[in-house]
Amino acid sequence: MLANVRAVDDVVAAVDCGYGSVKATVNTRNGILAFPSGACPADQALDDFEAGEFSEPIMIDDKPWVAGFESANLPAYQRPIHRTYATTDHYRALLMEALYRLGERYVALLVLGLPTDLYMNDKEQLQHLKGFVGHHQIHGRDVVVQDVVVCNQPMGSTAAFARRRGRVAVIDIGYRTTDTTLMVNGRIDPSGYSTCQTASRDVCDAVAREFGASTGIDVSADMVDQAFRAGGMTIERRLKIYDLREHLDAVAPALAETIWASVQTTLRQSVTLLDQILLTGGGAHLLRSYFEALVSPVPVTVPSDPAKANVEGYLQLGAALIQQRRQAHG
Ligand SMILES: Nc1ncnc2c1ncn2[C@@H]1O[C@H](COP(=O)(O)OP(=O)(O)OP(=O)(O)O)[C@@H](O)[C@H]1O
Ligand SMILES: [Mg+2]
Repeated sequence: MLANVRAVDDVVAAVDCGYGSVKATVNTRNGILAFPSGACPADQALDDFEAGEFSEPIMIDDKPWVAGFESANLPAYQRPIHRTYATTDHYRALLMEALYRLGERYVALLVLGLPTDLYMNDKEQLQHLKGFVGHHQIHGRDVVVQDVVVCNQPMGSTAAFARRRGRVAVIDIGYRTTDTTLMVNGRIDPSGYSTCQTASRDVCDAVAREFGASTGIDVSADMVDQAFRAGGMTIERRLKIYDLREHLDAVAPALAETIWASVQTTLRQSVTLLDQILLTGGGAHLLRSYFEALVSPVPVTVPSDPAKANVEGYLQLGAALIQQRRQAHG
């Protein structure tokens, strides 16, 4: 990933602020960092909550915030779950936290994303994101963002995807929403995109309920989500490790069907002409096999790390843009 970074003018950062977790990366070093999307004003965090890791908090309009923690640790604060998420203080706090954790003091180009329907229709939100250009003080450190580009979220996953010819349905199963976009030879088909409100959060909810019903032990959807995000299929309760797979098997087929029904409504007759489905977002880990059974014989491709595929692609798109600009200026 270290893409020819010659000077600070070439530093590209990419941040994918999801409802479940933030994914962030920069072209000056390898790897993608991910942290949970819990954030709240500091005075709403629990008294005994150890937010004091930093000498100074993140200031949002003169109000101190903590960001990047498991929501379960911040019970007083509900995460905002609505279409204008990118304009909220919650989003701003998470983005600032990501910039801080990436460690760069000067970012020539920051790449952000919006789900397809917002990207196509919500100019206000697009402008809002561009407003992150400028000088930020984060935990007492100065960070300068020279320029911001906003891309359509699934373009991230497709950028990292070699086979882009033909008709590809990109289905991003996130925490809160599943976003579907039809791509034809690498371009968005403007008639084929939609957002479905069934996603990993519903899988976690259903697994938690099923687990409780069959074992008599309470677990929260947040705990299940945390286990999945850690790449696991087990959960520890009362000093015992429980396998979540059988509970997932019990609830996932119906949820995969709900999502697929919504995708079919979006794609209408195009669905029979699909060459490929690119299944991405962290939910691809959970629903892949159930999905494959539903969509057969259409082949399903899953990026090697689907939760991080969008941000990986944002970085590639940003690095290509910087390169083009450099060439254009000789
Ligand atoms: N190995 C894994 N890594 C990350 N997430 C996983 C993994 N396995 C399962 N998941 C589940 O996938 C969910 C969605 O992950 P993702 O990062 O794509 O969501 P998001 O981008 O935060 O949400 P949204 O796109 O709705 O804003 C996680 O919250 C988790 O429940
Ligand atoms: Mg996402």
